[in-house]
Amino acid sequence: MLEGLEGDDRADALGLEGQVVDVLDAVDAEAFLDVAADVLLGSEDCPHVGDALLAFGGSSPDLDQRLGEREVLRHVTGELGDGWSHNPHATNPWPATNYADRPMATTQGRGTDTATLQARVDELLWYHSVDVKPGVATQGWWELRHALPLIPFPDLRGKRCLDIGTWDGFYAYEMERRGAAEVVAIDLLDISAIDYPPEIRANKTFDPSLGDKQLRSAGFRLLHDILDSKVEWRDCNIYDLDPVEMGTFDVVNLGSLLIHLRDPVRALDAVRSVTKGHFVCIDYVHPPLELLSRKRPLFQLQGEGSDFQWWLASDAGLRQLLHVGGFTIEEVSKYFLLRPGPRTLAVGKPSLRDRARQATTLALAGDSTAGGHLHRAYRCRPRF
Ligand SMILES: C[S@@+](CC[C@H](N)C(=O)[O-])C[C@H]1O[C@@H](n2cnc3c(N)ncnc32)[C@H](O)[C@@H]1O
Repeated sequence: MLEGLEGDDRADALGLEGQVVDVLDAVDAEAFLDVAADVLLGSEDCPHVGDALLAFGGSSPDLDQRLGEREVLRHVTGELGDGWSHNPHATNPWPATNYADRPMATTQGRGTDTATLQARVDELLWYHSVDVKPGVATQGWWELRHALPLIPFPDLRGKRCLDIGTWDGFYAYEMERRGAAEVVAIDLLDISAIDYPPEIRANKTFDPSLGDKQLRSAGFRLLHDILDSKVEWRDCNIYDLDPVEMGTFDVVNLGSLLIHLRDPVRALDAVRSVTKGHFVCIDYVHPPLELLSRKRPLFQLQGEGSDFQWWLASDAGLRQLLHVGGFTIEEVSKYFLLRPGPRTLAVGKPSLRDRARQATTLALAGDSTAGGHLHRAYRCRPRF
């Protein structure tokens, strides 16, 4: 039945048959790679698809002919070894001690030499890897430093900026470093206000604070001190952003939060109300949906579990969400990965599903880092 169907038509036919509601769950490697090849090959967004298919074992005479890049691909395959990449820092995981005994913020060792500063930041658990000073960096759970050059930030010099869901302040401090006149960073002081799914909320024994081994803003505060920063941290829910309370901003940044919101349209409404200039939206793109259709605005509803992921979007889905939320997209980044950071333990031998994900992220982002999450950044303006 699929003979003769190309690209989206083929993926849609598979979808209609109910065989690939989630391509990566459903398939054997050959079938997955066939679909990946048909959907992705030829798209200018996916310059790495040939690398991905061969590196992960999806070679066919037809494909070889179409790609004609065997030497390059052999090189890539060699680099990938058995097809999965290791976190280079995985041998230095965060020590598994009793975190409850750890200090929340550092008041001692205020010297500025590299070793003292590194020891100071190492007292805390970090979400973000942040370059603090030359030779000093936080050992984050997640790694985004490689993505900074890809994100289409406007010129921030002299601008009033807002970073939403800042956690350790990776983007907020970057905005300040780029010359913003004023940066406000918001997050939740009370993390029970997070959009947990109803089932989690109904569980009386669930304690959201157990997931956080330290106050969520502890890292932000320490960086504030070390960097002698003027960024202002505020306790504010994205849904409550209000120009009367906060004023408006020349540049608003939102990183990896839409996926965690039950009502992303209401959130975007609030964001738009405080955005006078640019809105930079960076979020997760769900690889299986990219394979199902590059054109249709697809979302997969999750809404379960304590990691509170709600709407897993395709790239076209995110674009439509931003449109519905009242924004015009001006520039879109290349795909990139939110990579596991030094604090993330080594991932085990990958399953077929993991390898298929790696093939997709290599195809789309040119990055097969194990455990990485596909992302894209959109620079927008309010359209009304
Ligand atoms: C996945 S982290 C992303 C951190 C950072 N923005 C980035 O892109 O790397 C989501 C952050 O948003 C915060 N957050 C969750 N729900 C929120 C809400 N309703 N309003 C404001 N912040 C929220 C979390 O506390 C957390 O710091």
